[in-house]
Amino acid sequence: MTVHFIGAGPGAPDLLTLRGRDLIASCPVCLYAGSLVPEAILGHCPTGARIVNTASMDLDAIISEMQRAQDEGHDVARLHSGDLSVWSAMGEQMRRLRALDIPVSVTPGVPSFAAAAAALGSELTLPGLSQSVVLTRTPGRASSMPEGETLANFAATGATLAIHLSVQNLAHVTQSLTPAYGADCPVAIVFRASWPDEQIIRGTLADIEGRLDAAITRTALILVGPALGAEGFDDSCLYATDYDRRYRPQTAGSPWANWSDKDE
Ligand SMILES: C[S@@+](CC[C@H](N)C(=O)[O-])C[C@H]1O[C@@H](n2cnc3c(N)ncnc32)[C@H](O)[C@@H]1O
Repeated sequence: MTVHFIGAGPGAPDLLTLRGRDLIASCPVCLYAGSLVPEAILGHCPTGARIVNTASMDLDAIISEMQRAQDEGHDVARLHSGDLSVWSAMGEQMRRLRALDIPVSVTPGVPSFAAAAAALGSELTLPGLSQSVVLTRTPGRASSMPEGETLANFAATGATLAIHLSVQNLAHVTQSLTPAYGADCPVAIVFRASWPDEQIIRGTLADIEGRLDAAITRTALILVGPALGAEGFDDSCLYATDYDRRYRPQTAGSPWANWSDKDE
């Protein structure tokens, strides 16, 4: 018996890995975080599966469900939205399961920041503008932020910020970022990326608050940074005609001239 943690992706039921789909189909028990995981994904569960929405359960109750499955010898598909490596609460469940000697596996999913970037048609790292993406959030009712992980500190790097769980704190976000990025820095808010009712709101740190529909209070990502919507950036070296590289040596004297992929 194994508890399979599976990243269920940002919302669209076909943004799920084949491995995730096949594991869901093989498990007689499915526990899913119903606040964000779309019911359409549950269509991959086998007929007769026990399907439990954990949105209203506490950690003890969730672990009890997993123990019950263990007693019955049933594998469990444990679904969380997006990818499991960020804000999934997988860590605390794993800790309990390890203490109980219940085997686990982890299958990654499409994270919401990637789905949001896809919706925008944007690359978040552009040569000369930004080469880092910071996945972060602002403090919430249930989660404080470690000292040092402030928006102002991240802004000082100039990186592209993907700010989760924070659309309800937009005023705080814009105030914290404007000193470092400037009022005209581009911002995009993507609500329910990949869902049928997806919305994109574009603006700047100065005007994004006024553009946001007041009804959008959750399931939205705030992307901020000069890379968003920029046209005036450098080409990368990767495809530059005269760039000497392993796969495209430019001269007989190139360190890559006699390299073959069999060497690797
Ligand atoms: C609890 S976190 C889960 C993050 C998830 N594990 C991931 O990989 O993206 C929930 C936050 O992720 C973001 N989010 C999740 N799904 C989203 C979507 N489809 N569109 C936009 N933002 C989304 C929102 O900021 C939301 O408040």
